Amino acid sequence: MNDTLVKKHFEQQLNLALQQMYDKVCSCEDGLLSPVAIDRGIRLLENLNYPQTLIEDLPPGSSDVAFPCANPLPKIISLAPRTILDLGCGTALDTLFCVSSLPELQQITGLDASSKLLAKGEELLRHFPVEAEKITLLQADLNQLSGYRLETSELILMNGSFNLIYDKMKFFTELFPLLTTEGTLLIYDFILTEALPPGFSHEVDNWLWNIGGALNAEELEKVVNDAGLKIVEINEIERIDPVARCEIIISHKKRGN
Ligand SMILES: C[S@@+](CC[C@H](N)C(=O)[O-])C[C@H]1O[C@@H](n2cnc3c(N)ncnc32)[C@H](O)[C@@H]1O
Repeated sequence: MNDTLVKKHFEQQLNLALQQMYDKVCSCEDGLLSPVAIDRGIRLLENLNYPQTLIEDLPPGSSDVAFPCANPLPKIISLAPRTILDLGCGTALDTLFCVSSLPELQQITGLDASSKLLAKGEELLRHFPVEAEKITLLQADLNQLSGYRLETSELILMNGSFNLIYDKMKFFTELFPLLTTEGTLLIYDFILTEALPPGFSHEVDNWLWNIGGALNAEELEKVVNDAGLKIVEINEIERIDPVARCEIIISHKKRGN
């Protein structure tokens, strides 16, 4: 197999594994994730400092399969966008929280590959019919963004989905026209602080929890620049070598700041 075919094959395997894993998370009550030593559900949201008022309003169980990397709401509220794309929205918790927190928000669209997570999202939104009027959920592959009819948005959010993208250059190139000229791409994910062991990124399994596909800051800056965008800021939230959990703020190059 030549290099291109090997990459194509890896990308297909990765997409399949991710979709199966996230679908399975929804159907295994405690099974799939119980051995994994990570906070889940309400405890995870509280530890990430999501507002207690929003957490209290959630119907029981609705945060069990949420996997945010950080609480994006303070930054999003400060940006006050009127339109948002939530890429890799999972069960649409951030999507809903954005509507609840932003009175000026007109429209938010959540995209995810997992039909099961999206079904949980639709179920959640049935409890919030007023907020749901501003929300559209769509099953879509983030690796093929140009294949959907998406409006430009003032904010594009990726809370834990960026490192799952295989071809990041293609992704940024397809995302470029979806971000308004003054818009912000807001990513919460891991950045490498040290090199990963040789061959680590060649294993699909190592990508599933956002590490195998992580870039270091220089690699990220290069691919962002090559796609015609620019990094405005990288804020380290937590250092857990060989990675740091980060807030990454990206804009168009042309913007004044
Ligand atoms: C770590 S979870 C974060 C989910 C959500 N943002 C949250 O905070 O709960 C990553 C999400 O990305 C989605 N995802 C992964 N690869 C994708 C792809 N190629 N296209 C669309 N969604 C994808 C997964 O289904 C999952 O919902």
